[in-house]
Amino acid sequence: MSQASESLATSVYHSERVKCLEMFYGEGFIGSEVEAKCKGSVEHLKLKAGDSILDVGAGSGGFAFYLAENVGAVVTAVDYCTNLVDLCNERCKEKGLSDKITFLARDMRTMQFESERFDAISFLGSLIHLKRGDHLSIFKNVKNWLKPGGRVLAHDFVTCDCPATSTQEFKDYQKRLHFNDVTVADYEEIFETAGLRLLQYQPRREFYIQDTTKRQTKAKENWNEILKVVSKETLEHCYKFFAEKRKWAEEGALFPCIFLAERPRDM
Ligand SMILES: C[S@@+](CC[C@H](N)C(=O)[O-])C[C@H]1O[C@@H](n2cnc3c(N)ncnc32)[C@H](O)[C@@H]1O
Repeated sequence: MSQASESLATSVYHSERVKCLEMFYGEGFIGSEVEAKCKGSVEHLKLKAGDSILDVGAGSGGFAFYLAENVGAVVTAVDYCTNLVDLCNERCKEKGLSDKITFLARDMRTMQFESERFDAISFLGSLIHLKRGDHLSIFKNVKNWLKPGGRVLAHDFVTCDCPATSTQEFKDYQKRLHFNDVTVADYEEIFETAGLRLLQYQPRREFYIQDTTKRQTKAKENWNEILKVVSKETLEHCYKFFAEKRKWAEEGALFPCIFLAERPRDM
């Protein structure tokens, strides 16, 4: 484990927190907008049985399992937190899906695959942890790993220029969560420079606020059930995590967007 991944695994995605987030989002998911990420991504990426897909920053594996079980896709799923990869491998064995999904401990900044291996590549909530300069080299690789005409989908938070983003409170929040500034304009430039054609850009602020409000209500309703699985400290921490993220989305500082792009057939 590198220093960066170790710090994420121990401070943000440690096993107790993952258990708690899964109580909020459902088994296999530690990030918001589960339905949009699963059903929505399959539609955007035009996936079909037998397609080969790379899911980057797979977390506790929900999208990879969804793809194998509902689409019949052949999935390579990577994450750099080894505690999460170990959990996914256990679940994969239990579900009898080892011939459909390969979970690998990899850092997206250094991982390597052969050219034109994948029909589609997804990044669901994993890019926000990158430093500004890291995206371009990753998306240049993505272009190379995709088959011509193959699609890539990034569903992640962007920072928007508004009064809240220049406050010390916001900067401290980003630092604590290991979040970095990336704007819509950055993504547009990254895709273009990497040689990927941007097909669609969709801001998800309203959906995200609705989704988070729903999760918060559910967490309150199931508070005592969740406390049977995780400590009060973890639950309160995760609940605060929701409340803070929702606040920044409401202020317009940080909210998710979907970016869909393709590798042009002639490039
Ligand atoms: C918010 S979680 C999302 C997980 C999952 N995709 C979901 O939607 O439930 C972000 C994931 O990205 C992973 N991640 C962050 N930086 C990474 C990197 N450089 N390489 C590989 N995985 C990374 C984290 O370990 C974490 O599991």
